[in-house]
Amino acid sequence: MEHLIDPFARAISYLRVSVTDRCDFRCVYCMSENMQFLPKKELLTLEELDRLCSAFVGLGVSKLRITGGEPLVRRGIMTFFEGMSRHLESGALKELTLTTNGSQLAKFAPALAAAGMKRINVSLDTLDETKFAEITRWGRLPQVLKGIDAAQEAGLRVKINAVALKGFNEDELFTLTEWCAERDMDLTFIEVMPMGDIGNENRLGQYWPLADLRDTLAENYTLKDLPLNTGGPARYVELAETKQKIGFITPLTHNFCESCNRVRITCTGEIYTCLGQEGHSDLRGPLRATEGNAPLEDAIRAAIALKPKGHDFDYSRDRLDGQMTRHMSHTGG
Ligand code: GTP
Ligand code: 5AD
Ligand code: SF4
Repeated sequence: MEHLIDPFARAISYLRVSVTDRCDFRCVYCMSENMQFLPKKELLTLEELDRLCSAFVGLGVSKLRITGGEPLVRRGIMTFFEGMSRHLESGALKELTLTTNGSQLAKFAPALAAAGMKRINVSLDTLDETKFAEITRWGRLPQVLKGIDAAQEAGLRVKINAVALKGFNEDELFTLTEWCAERDMDLTFIEVMPMGDIGNENRLGQYWPLADLRDTLAENYTLKDLPLNTGGPARYVELAETKQKIGFITPLTHNFCESCNRVRITCTGEIYTCLGQEGHSDLRGPLRATEGNAPLEDAIRAAIALKPKGHDFDYSRDRLDGQMTRHMSHTGG
């Protein structure tokens, strides 16, 4: 079986699948307060999600990350995870993982661990209850903290993702870092990306370049660049004092696209070969066309043959370039 290689000789080994566009939060940089969600009948069924992911595994994908919206609000999602664990057992899949807002972890963590999951990413931008309610609009911090506890108790390794937001969590840089160190969790900061209409919020006002954040961090810690490259967009440093690993995802100030190893599927079965470009193709049609996977595999290869070189996000010259019309919850980050 020939593995998936794109026109820039990048091997595609990582699939990110959004299993729902819905979420129980309304983070201000991600969604508007009155989001219109897709009718449920548009979604791939759990059986279709299984078939689609299994086809990718057959084509050499070895890492599968489930995203959303909030993946754990999708009804019956544990059935899907339990199904995917067979690919972990066979060795075809090296990693099955999840990006979550943490709200449902208290309920699901043990079952996720039992399905073979080893680590998860939890989005958390602030440790202040009032600010948390403000940034997520509908979220409640204690619930998420309980979820993180449950995940750690279940033996899952937790990485915290914090979107760096000017004037919002700037003052929590050290608190967040120390909190993660105490709990032995990795921490990654993300630059805010121009994804989707978010109502009256101002993205340029939100933008806190990570180069600045890094300089501030260096005031209290000794930073050592790590050569580690996970194939993901994050670049890592180690804090000499705590031995902690801190990641930086800087789509705006750096381009990490040359080593991109991933494609994304939306909850309706569209494949997006770049988070920062509009190009996509339909896989639901070919998936439903026949019971066999030949049309589906052809469609996957055809889509990957169109994978662009990179994104065009740009905030330079004080204006927004590369703005995407779709929301992050559509393609799952
Ligand atoms: P690991 O490296 O496996 O920990 O995963 P990750 O950091 O890629 O996964 P996660 O879902 O935690 O991603 C964090 C965020 O990084 C995403 O939500 C996006 O905001 C951003 N991101 C991930 N992949 C890409 C990418 O290919 N391009 C851009 N521009 N941003 C990305
Ligand atoms: N820019 C950067 N990160 C974003 N996320 C959601 N919207 C944006 C955006 N516009 C992050 C969430 C979560 C991940 C799935 O994507 O905080 O960590
Ligand atoms: Fe939900 Fe994540 Fe978007 Fe927040 S960032 S609204 S938690 S999908």
